[in-house]
Amino acid sequence: MMILVSGGAGYIGSHTCLYLLEAGHSVIVADNLSNSSTEMLERVKEITGSDIPFFNVDVTDKDAVEDIFNKNQIDGVIHFAGFKAVGESVLKPLDYYYNNTVSTMVLAQACIKHKAERFVFSSSATVYGENKIPFSEDMKLMPATNPYGQTKVISEQILTDAAKANPDFSVALLRYFNPVGAHESGLIGEAPNGIPGNLMPYITQVAKGRLPKLRVFGNDYNTPDGTGVRDYIHVCDLALGHIAALSSIKKGVNVYNLGTGRGTSVMQLIKTFEEVNNVRIPYEIVGRRPGDIAEFYADARKAEIELKWTAKRSLADMCRDAWRFEKNYGA
Ligand code: NAD
Ligand code: UD1
Repeated sequence: MMILVSGGAGYIGSHTCLYLLEAGHSVIVADNLSNSSTEMLERVKEITGSDIPFFNVDVTDKDAVEDIFNKNQIDGVIHFAGFKAVGESVLKPLDYYYNNTVSTMVLAQACIKHKAERFVFSSSATVYGENKIPFSEDMKLMPATNPYGQTKVISEQILTDAAKANPDFSVALLRYFNPVGAHESGLIGEAPNGIPGNLMPYITQVAKGRLPKLRVFGNDYNTPDGTGVRDYIHVCDLALGHIAALSSIKKGVNVYNLGTGRGTSVMQLIKTFEEVNNVRIPYEIVGRRPGDIAEFYADARKAEIELKWTAKRSLADMCRDAWRFEKNYGA
């Protein structure tokens, strides 16, 4: 298939491009480089030996997207493009609502018009809100507590309605849990701008000595060691989940959790990182981060049964690969 990957120059998109090429698909990328550069795509080319036609395009721009569809025989879209920083979304809600929902509408409309009938969307476990764990796909969604989360809820609704009205349109809503790690080559990985907000990139920067110590946000949660519990998933497993979804989605809306089904606490992650990489992570316990939930992880059975996909890489793999990339990359 010829797949248009929006946001393909970013963290999850670049890994997915790699596995799409390895699975024999053709890939074109549309990205406005608002949170990336073309470097990761050049590295994907280095690893796979395949070219990726690149369009420096904002996918909220209807004419620019139409032009890509006119020039290429596209079979499907994987839509990663979007803003993703929760804190920033509270400060700039209109930027987030505009970018994340208009991009979804523009791409879905182009797909329907050009009969590119497979649409895979990057959603998030954040749509479950504070639900009963493990989170399963049939749960009633809770309103998200921040504009970023709302853009995912709204985009899911837009695509669900579009699929209802267009019976040939196949949509996969993939709810990611906590993607971490990097490709085993150490060539591509997560390279956030500025000080990272998420745990794993923060840990790798402490390990590198760029940041003095990790702050552990709360050790008084109702969890086994009191620190927050999440379902960390290796980005390569996550990328492979997209390939599985693309090949087996049915007409209509298909919702899948992409997680491991296992919860890991902040302290367990620090300990594993230290052990497998033989580095020390200085940390201090501080107060809870506002808006954090104590514990969540996926019920991952639906993807296993219907997509024949499971996350195979261990927490040790995630820590090893994240550190290998951090050591290789940048200053
Ligand atoms: P990322 O920022 O690395 O990648 C997103 C890419 O989209 C960037 O390259 C950026 O330049 C591009 N982009 C943004 N707006 C655009 C626009 N209007 N037109 C064209 N390109 C645009 O982020 P990521 O971690 O790879 O996340 C990819 C997707 O997965 C996002 O939609 C994000 O919300 C979702 N997601 C990410 C996580 C996570 O923890 N990383 C978790 C759940 C869901
Ligand atoms: C983040 C996003 C969420 C998204 C999810 C999956 C926020 C507020 N939420 O949440 O929308 O769906 O990723 O990608 O960004 N922690 C520390 N110290 C740190 C950083 C984090 O102790 O410096 C703890 C947190 O309190 C939490 C765990 O580490 O318990 C994971 O945090 P993080 O990586 O930010 O992910 P989420 O909170 O799950």
